[in-house]
Amino acid sequence: LKRELGPQLPNEGRPLTDLLSDFQRRILPGIVHWGHPRFFGYFGSTTTAPGIIGETAAAALNVSAMTWRTSPAATELESLVLEWIQSAIGIPNAFRGFVYDTASVGTLHALAAARERAIPDARRKGLAGRALPVFRIYASEEAHSSIAKTAVVLGLGEDNVCRVAVSRDYQLDLQALREAVRADEANGFRPLAVVGTIGSTSCASVDPIKSLADLCEERELWLHVDAAYGGAMGLLPEGAWAMDGIERADSIVFNPHKWLFVPLDFSTLYVRDPDLLKSVFSLTPEYLEGDASMGETNYMDYGLQLGRRFRALKAWMVLAGFGKEGLVARVREHRRLAQRFASWIDEDSSFRRLAPVTMGVVCFQSAPASIYAQGEAALNAFNRRVVEQLNEQGKIFLTWTRLSGRTAMRLALGNVLTTEAHLREAWEEIRRLVRLLSAG
Ligand SMILES: Cc1ncc(COP(=O)(O)O)c(C=O)c1O
Repeated sequence: LKRELGPQLPNEGRPLTDLLSDFQRRILPGIVHWGHPRFFGYFGSTTTAPGIIGETAAAALNVSAMTWRTSPAATELESLVLEWIQSAIGIPNAFRGFVYDTASVGTLHALAAARERAIPDARRKGLAGRALPVFRIYASEEAHSSIAKTAVVLGLGEDNVCRVAVSRDYQLDLQALREAVRADEANGFRPLAVVGTIGSTSCASVDPIKSLADLCEERELWLHVDAAYGGAMGLLPEGAWAMDGIERADSIVFNPHKWLFVPLDFSTLYVRDPDLLKSVFSLTPEYLEGDASMGETNYMDYGLQLGRRFRALKAWMVLAGFGKEGLVARVREHRRLAQRFASWIDEDSSFRRLAPVTMGVVCFQSAPASIYAQGEAALNAFNRRVVEQLNEQGKIFLTWTRLSGRTAMRLALGNVLTTEAHLREAWEEIRRLVRLLSAG
C-alpha cells in the first residue's frame, strides 16, 4: 500500500471518485471479509443495514457524547439502549450500564473500581511508596488476555493475575481457586478480585459464577464477569443457565459487537456501584464546568475517555431493527448450526471434538490415521496447517486455538447471513483439504 498509495501525504487533494477507485482496487483486496457468511473466525460480528446506516449517520453528525449538553440525544439514547440490553439479557435493575469501545476497556474500568474499593484513595495517592500488600486477581487458564493487560495498566502487575486450572470442560476449577486464594493469603498476598467467564474465547466454556460469588462474598473479593461473548445467551430461555449467578457479581462486561450484531465497536459494562466508578474517573476540566453543573448524566465522568463517539445510534438501529424476537431467532439459529456442525464431526471417525458445544463455537481436531500414528506434535502441526491453508484459499475462514496442549480448529458462528448450506460447504472444504494434505 505504501508503494501504491505513496509514502508521503500528497500535496494536493484528489477527487473522491479517485479515492473510491483506489479503495476498490488497492485496499479491498487486502481485507479479510468478516461480514461474509463463510467467515467462521474469532467472534465474527455481522454488518447489517441498520448497523451500517447508524454508523454512517453518526459519522455525519460527528458529535461527542462526553456530556449531556454536548448532544442530549446522544446521552439519552445511550442510556436507553443500555437499559434495553440490560433487561433483554437478564441483568438485574440493581446494575447500571456504561458504553465503552471494547470489553478490554470495560474490564479495565471495572477492576479500577475494584482497586479503589480495596485501596482507598488509590486514585489520588497512587500505589508507589505506600505500605501496601501485593494484590492478586484470579481468572481461569481460559480467561481472556485483557485481564492481564488490565493488571498492567492498573499497576497491579501482570504476574499477579493468577491463572487457575480448569476442569475437563474448560470451566474454572473451584477447588483449585480456593487453594490458590488460601496459598496466597498464607504467603502474605492480598486477594483482590475474581474474574469468571461466560463464553471463553477458545471454546465458549462457562465458569461456575454462582460458586465464584459464594467465594467472593466469603472473602470480600470483587467478582467481575466477562460475558463479552456469552452474554447473548441471556436472550434465550434455554440459555439462561449460562447467566446463572450474574446477579451476585460486582461488574459484568458484555459485547453487543460480538453476538448482538452491532458493528464494532460497542461494548457494555454493568456495575453494581456506579458511584464508585464515578469516584475513580470523574475529573472535570475547567472548560466543561458549565456542562457538568447541569446535574444530568455526563458519561465522561465514568471513564477514561473525554470525547466519546455516538455509538448508541447504530446500537439502537440494530436492536430496534431486529426486535427482541429477531435477535433471539438469530442467536438460537447460531446455536442450532453449531450443534449441527458438531454432529457431523461426531459422525466422522477421522475427526474428534475437543470441547463441549455450549454456544456458537465448535473446537475440533482432524485426526487422520496416517498423522495420528505420528503422535501429538504431528497432529497439532497438521491441524494448524489445515487452518492456514483453508484461509489462504479464501473460500472459508477459520481460526485455530489450543486446548489442553492440543491444537484445535475452531469454527465460530456469528453471522446472520450464514445458512446451513454455507456450513455444509465449509465442512466439505475442510474434509477435502484434510484428505489432500494427509495423503501427503
Ligand atoms: C471472552 C472475551 N473477553 C474479552 C474479549 C476482549 O474483547 P474486546 O476485543 O472487545 O476488547 C474477548 C475478545 O475476543 C473475549 O473473547
